[in-house]
Amino acid sequence: MEEKIKELMELRKKARLGGGEKRIEAQHNKGKKTARERIELLLDPGSFEEFDMFVTHRCTDFGLESQQYLSDGVVTGYGTIDGRLVYVFSQDFTVFGGSLSETYAEKICKVMDKALKVGAPVIGINDSGGARIQEGVQSLAGYAEIFERNILASGVVPQISAIFGPCAGGAVYSPALTDFILMSRDTSYMFVTGPKVVKTVTGEDVNEEELGGAYVHGSKSGVSHFIAEDEEEGIMLIRKLLSFMPQNNLEDPPLAHCDDPIDRLEDSLNSIIPDNPSIPYDVRDVIHAVTDYNEFVEVQRHFAPNIVVGFARFNGMSVGIVANQPNYIAGVLDINSSRKAARFVRFCDAFNIPVVTFVDVPGFLPGTVQEYGGIIVHGAKLLFAYGEATVPKVTIVLRKAYGGAYDVMGSKHLRGDINYAWPTAEIAVMGPKGAIEILHSKEIKGIEDPAQKDEFIKQKETEYKEKFASPYVAAKYGYIDDVIEPRNTRFRVIRALQSLATKKDTLPPKKHANIPL
Ligand code: HXC
Repeated sequence: MEEKIKELMELRKKARLGGGEKRIEAQHNKGKKTARERIELLLDPGSFEEFDMFVTHRCTDFGLESQQYLSDGVVTGYGTIDGRLVYVFSQDFTVFGGSLSETYAEKICKVMDKALKVGAPVIGINDSGGARIQEGVQSLAGYAEIFERNILASGVVPQISAIFGPCAGGAVYSPALTDFILMSRDTSYMFVTGPKVVKTVTGEDVNEEELGGAYVHGSKSGVSHFIAEDEEEGIMLIRKLLSFMPQNNLEDPPLAHCDDPIDRLEDSLNSIIPDNPSIPYDVRDVIHAVTDYNEFVEVQRHFAPNIVVGFARFNGMSVGIVANQPNYIAGVLDINSSRKAARFVRFCDAFNIPVVTFVDVPGFLPGTVQEYGGIIVHGAKLLFAYGEATVPKVTIVLRKAYGGAYDVMGSKHLRGDINYAWPTAEIAVMGPKGAIEILHSKEIKGIEDPAQKDEFIKQKETEYKEKFASPYVAAKYGYIDDVIEPRNTRFRVIRALQSLATKKDTLPPKKHANIPL
């Protein structure tokens, strides 16, 4: 008996060494942690239960039969984060560069199947050279088995991917199918084809960082939702993110304890909107002012900054916030901001997280770049996401809500539940300048004296503003439920959310909708 236990201990020790001390040292020298160190940091201390530690690959080609490593390059199992169950897999770069074999894929599929069965989130830590070249099509099949599970789990349990090393080729598609991607600065990259193939096919000279580093995917492509300075920061962010989410689509998000007074008045909001409508302000100041403890976890901070999305709490209730950002290209809606916000609203809706929207939008961005890029379809995504969402939807118009953008941004007409406006709101088909140029173009052309022309335009703009550029026309029709004092916003949003806590809304029965992709 003693001998057998000793054997078990030795095997465990061997498995924990992955590809061996030398490779662990090399991993550390690159500023990276090992697969097991990452899991230890991620989960509550002592909560990790590992599966399949003794699994080895089945490949007998290229001399691989003589190279066997216990666990076969991926560490899998379950544990807890803040006491809540999560399933994890963590790729081990020290074993064949973390490359994916048939058995490795089976290990990942096993934890995904279990997570789906019990309704718990899946966290994948990626650090891999892709398909294990020696295994050929079996490795490709393994990837597709994982993809299928990512798809089946989508909208059922939250899925989060951390990229802490290479993630290339078809391997990128598993993270891409999950809800959130996080990349570590300087040590991770994602691309479908690497720099060498790029050079051969297009002649372009580009290095790994420029092609698919954390900054590129965090700001240019929008593939990554978060850029972490290092692995520790990334792992802490995953823990924090999960605190806003339910375990699965059948549960509500956890309610946090809150000592921040619900009726905290925020006087600064009464003067935050500049008198001149062309002057911007930072909508994050509004968000921070009203949320519990002024906290806000921003998602895709560096991508499409003309819209701000992220998680916060109101009196302990988890919410998703969407806000136009006047500080960046006047908060206009364009292709990227529409895609960004649409995906976020759909995530919230899938996981019963209410959506709070702050509106200050001059409209959709005009021009050939946008039209050729398909702004019609991409803008429709956001429209679709809001219109389809059945979670509580609370909207506050801060300033501009012009044209189609008024409709899109959580309006009453897209089943918005409670729609408020600040007295500074301007809800109309378009801004005064554009409207007067269209409505009075002939008269304007007919005035020769420039001073007279300016005077005429000014007068017409004033008349237009008085008539349309206020919240009261929309309020007259009940499209705005109330015009609220800005400093009361926190209280009014909390009351609104409380009143909607038992909201039930449905969609007509269908196989699935056909969102304009
Ligand atoms: C088998 C691999 C491997 C792979 C790396 N290794 N990638 N073994 N299959 N795909 C092994 C190396 O032989 C080496 O073994 C060890 O892992 C570490 O690799 P190094 O090259 O020494 O490390 P580094 O210099 O840091 O470079 C890492 C790397 C590079 C950039 C990831 O290894 C690389 O380019 N690998 C190939 C990437 C690739 O083309 N994969 C296929 C993508 S296509 P030793 O024994 O020396 O330690 C794909 C299709 C998926 O994935 C399709 C899904 C639908």
